[in-house]
Amino acid sequence: MKRRNFIKNASLTGVGLAVGNSLLSCDDKYKKTSEKTVSVDAPKGSFPLVIATWNVKNATAKAWEVIQNGGSALDAVEQGCMVEEADETGQSVGKGGLPDRDGHVTLDACIMDKYGNCGSVVFLENVVHAVSVARKVMEETPHVMLAGKGAEQFAYEKGFPKENLLTEASKKAWEEWKKTSEYKPIINIENHDTIGMLAIDKNGDISGACTTSGLAYKMHGRVGDSPIIGSGLFVDNEIGACVATGLGEEVVKTVGSFLVVELMRQGKSPQEACEEAISRIVNKPNSNYKDFQVGYIAVNKKGETGTYSIHQGFSMTKFQENSNENLQSTHFLTE
Ligand code: GLY
Repeated sequence: MKRRNFIKNASLTGVGLAVGNSLLSCDDKYKKTSEKTVSVDAPKGSFPLVIATWNVKNATAKAWEVIQNGGSALDAVEQGCMVEEADETGQSVGKGGLPDRDGHVTLDACIMDKYGNCGSVVFLENVVHAVSVARKVMEETPHVMLAGKGAEQFAYEKGFPKENLLTEASKKAWEEWKKTSEYKPIINIENHDTIGMLAIDKNGDISGACTTSGLAYKMHGRVGDSPIIGSGLFVDNEIGACVATGLGEEVVKTVGSFLVVELMRQGKSPQEACEEAISRIVNKPNSNYKDFQVGYIAVNKKGETGTYSIHQGFSMTKFQENSNENLQSTHFLTE
């Protein structure tokens, strides 16, 4: 299924079955709780494994190959994300990403290794492999984050080629959008589909990465959650890792990925932790969660995984025990 059509075509299969949603009057009368998620296929813990947001089997296959050839989880997540960045048909990542309101394709990405080292780039233009530039920031600078022209200049210094990221297809979509130029702070959820990837290698070490062109037709200069360590991605090699997709503003407000990892530290399973992190978003006073999507995927040190989203249609691709599968996520809302 094309990631952009996820809301329309999703089915309830795979890792679990969300049987409904309701407003329950709990002790906290404002607390919104989805009806119990029934796990019909409890995720088994084993590694190595690779998981990624959305249906990206080519990307997880690449990452798996890296690990099978003795590569590290860090190499795996970088090379896996690069597959999506190079795929011009994906209009949310790398080349071919949808532009901002002014027609600029601007990329955000980050990467984090088993030591807790991290690097990120924000508002990067004209360079396809934002995730690799983020890795260079991590490994070859004293900094964590480079932005805009500075990040672009750094990329050229490191040998990355300059390339126009705006493809004909994305330009055409932008020109169509300009006819109305409707800017909605409450954003169409189909505009968000960051690719995030987490891997555990043969040594049991965890790394993660994510990459995105962000919200389509965003304000010029807007940055989402994906390059923000702790929001879009967090890795703690003692505990596990989490990566987010969806409306970045909402992920940032709850520091979502760090939250999921900390919940796992406190004993929750990856699935329980993802559900709690979504609950924090939907239970905010006046949350307009029906108007946007957020999804999390997570893995713990044992190789157990979890995934949860607000809306139906989010999915996780998992490569584990020689099987590369796309699994529908359970979700808070039933539509
Ligand atoms: N999660 C990607 C973004 O909001 O930019």
